[in-house]
Amino acid sequence: MAEIICVIGNKGGTGKTTLSHMLCQGLGLLNQRSVCVLTDIGREPLDPEGRRYLTADARSRDALAKVVDKIRGLNKWMGVIDGGANRSEMDRHLYGLAHLVLLPFRDSHEDIRTVQQDLETFPRALAIPTQWPTNPWAREAADKLIESQLGHYRNRILEPVFAISSSKLLLQKRIPDSLPSPLSNACRRVAAPVLDILRIDHEDVDSDVDEAMEHDPAPVRGRADAETTLGTAH
Ligand SMILES: Nc1ncnc2c1ncn2[C@@H]1O[C@H](COP(=O)(O)OP(=O)(O)OP(=O)(O)O)[C@@H](O)[C@H]1O
Ligand SMILES: [Mg+2]
Repeated sequence: MAEIICVIGNKGGTGKTTLSHMLCQGLGLLNQRSVCVLTDIGREPLDPEGRRYLTADARSRDALAKVVDKIRGLNKWMGVIDGGANRSEMDRHLYGLAHLVLLPFRDSHEDIRTVQQDLETFPRALAIPTQWPTNPWAREAADKLIESQLGHYRNRILEPVFAISSSKLLLQKRIPDSLPSPLSNACRRVAAPVLDILRIDHEDVDSDVDEAMEHDPAPVRGRADAETTLGTAH
């Protein structure tokens, strides 16, 4: 059985797309096969070349149904569906499809107000702080904001994804031949807790980074099969 993960939320610019791609890259680095699914009609599909995951274009309802169907038929794969802002009905649809639902939010009052509503609307969803400040003082303030505004939901808030400027490399149409190690490590740290929630075994993310892996992106195992299966959805 494949797992379907949705990254949704009503507010724009919270980091849904970045998180979806970091998660997929991290899953790949932890030897888990995944497909990052584009649903945002305002965005262009990204080239899968060099990534540790596949990409699928599901910008129409029809294509989404086909892609989800195909992913479900791929044993032990994961589909990570990147939502889009201001699409309440689509968010509800994706929520209904998913085993795990993630709601990214940044450390702003507006993000926090919106994620509060989304946590109410989607009772199974988990919120995940993104672009979280790394400066100790800013981080303390941001953590306090969570405690004061979202304390009630503390059991549904995952560890933060810290701001990392190289994350934008994953949103390039074609990624560079090699990615910086801090980005790969950040991607692993995003993926590991998700695998833990889904009770899927994985290697320890704190183990020493295998330098060879950084410079020699191995093809996704079983990629050819999945590409054939997902082919019509591209
Ligand atoms: N962890 C991060 N570190 C640094 N920058 C980030 C991080 N996550 C997101 N960003 C930046 O924040 C901006 C918005 O991110 P992104 O496009 O992923 O949000 P989104 O929720 O998908 O937006 P939309 O609602 O338009 O789909 C981008 O410029 C992105 O590079
Ligand atoms: Mg987006």
